[in-house]
Amino acid sequence: MSGELGTVARLYRNSLRLRTSTALGDPVATVLNLRRGSDGHAAYERIRARGDLVRGRSGLCMSASYPVCNEVLRDNRFRVAPTSAIRLKLRPRPDQRTDFLVHPLDDSLASANPPEHTRLRKLVAPLFGAAQMRARRTFVEELVERQLDRLDRAEPVDLIDEFALRIPSLVIAELLGLPPEDHDRFAWWGLEFGATVDGARGARERHRTHVLLAELTDYFAEVTSRRRKDPGDDLISALTTAVDEGAMTEAGLVSTCQALLIGGFVTTANIIGNAVIALSAALDQRELFIADLDLAGQVVEEALRWEAPAQYSVRVAGEDVELAGHRLSRGTPVVALLAAANRDPRVFADPGRFDIERPNSRDHLSFAAGVHYCLGAGLARMEGEIALRGLYRRYPRLHQVGRADYCPSRVIRGPQRLMIRPR
Ligand code: HEM
Repeated sequence: MSGELGTVARLYRNSLRLRTSTALGDPVATVLNLRRGSDGHAAYERIRARGDLVRGRSGLCMSASYPVCNEVLRDNRFRVAPTSAIRLKLRPRPDQRTDFLVHPLDDSLASANPPEHTRLRKLVAPLFGAAQMRARRTFVEELVERQLDRLDRAEPVDLIDEFALRIPSLVIAELLGLPPEDHDRFAWWGLEFGATVDGARGARERHRTHVLLAELTDYFAEVTSRRRKDPGDDLISALTTAVDEGAMTEAGLVSTCQALLIGGFVTTANIIGNAVIALSAALDQRELFIADLDLAGQVVEEALRWEAPAQYSVRVAGEDVELAGHRLSRGTPVVALLAAANRDPRVFADPGRFDIERPNSRDHLSFAAGVHYCLGAGLARMEGEIALRGLYRRYPRLHQVGRADYCPSRVIRGPQRLMIRPR
């Protein structure tokens, strides 16, 4: 996800215009106007049917093609936009304790372009290196074992609330040195953010976003100021040094912490939720998996391909460019439909089928590509793999009960409530 989702929101902040374009059959507007929490694949297929790159009535372009999405994400002539509608209009709230207001995607590396992006990423990336991930493995394994006990019941239980959200939330809490008992707040913020990430439409949504951002800013401003006085062996303490050395601003630090909590939390829980939904429907795949739990890594990749937890990324042409036979003038926004690229039949055979033996699942674009490639991909993969292996080892017969409730979001795709019977 990145800050230029706000660009889309700005373009489409006139929701009447968006509804009109949708009613007139504009497939691009139809995708942007999907009901939150609904399955977008049919609308994405209409984009694919129109060509590799489709221009909407507003001028915004959209692609469901794997090669085009991949190209847009990797070509530095396409840039993330530095501001969003949210940032432009919102000021600190009067009830805030902090005198600034930042947005996790608008003020962090997620919305910076090279060379500023390169500089910021260098500060944070070492904290997500392979050695760091190896060092965290035992922590994640022990955490998963403890959380699995919560599912040990005879009656149906909500997998998301009792398990899937807890793993990434407690892992990030450990990484950032936050109190694990704040989990309920994180869960709330994560779901609220998912609901507003594609831009606030109308006064009520704007108010909701404003309150959320104020809470997040206050929370992390307090944490960072405490950590500066009393540093620990955690990521925030390491980054306060960067602020003291002038390499990062205070607001940038707060925003980066928000991005790490928000960006890596519900999305990671969605790997678990989406995989369980898929395995409950494809029983042959579940049997294959429980017969060989070492396939857990492959289940994670196929779950990421089959349903992208972040459905799209947005870039803006930084100069006049040619893309898929179209001339795009500078400033044209392009929506790369990651979820649809992952089902491009030219790359993935029988793409709607959940197949844990698929040889190229890992080629999915769910973590994007290019310079903004997800910083937490290694961590998310490790958490997903350990969680799914543990889950099906302890409860091999677990199955979904009833329909899942999906996150009320157009960008974030995964269940917010998924009842399962563990035995
Ligand atoms: C399944 C889990 C995850 C998914 C699907 C996911 C998805 C993404 C995507 C698509 C992007 C690129 C956005 C763009 O190019 O516009 C991204 C960037 C990012 N992700 Fe993740 N993410 C996940 C987990 C995590 C975790 C666990 C963390 C950290 C704790 C994290 C931190 C970040 C950061 C900091 C960026 C910005 C990187 C940059 O701009 O250079 N993500 N993520």
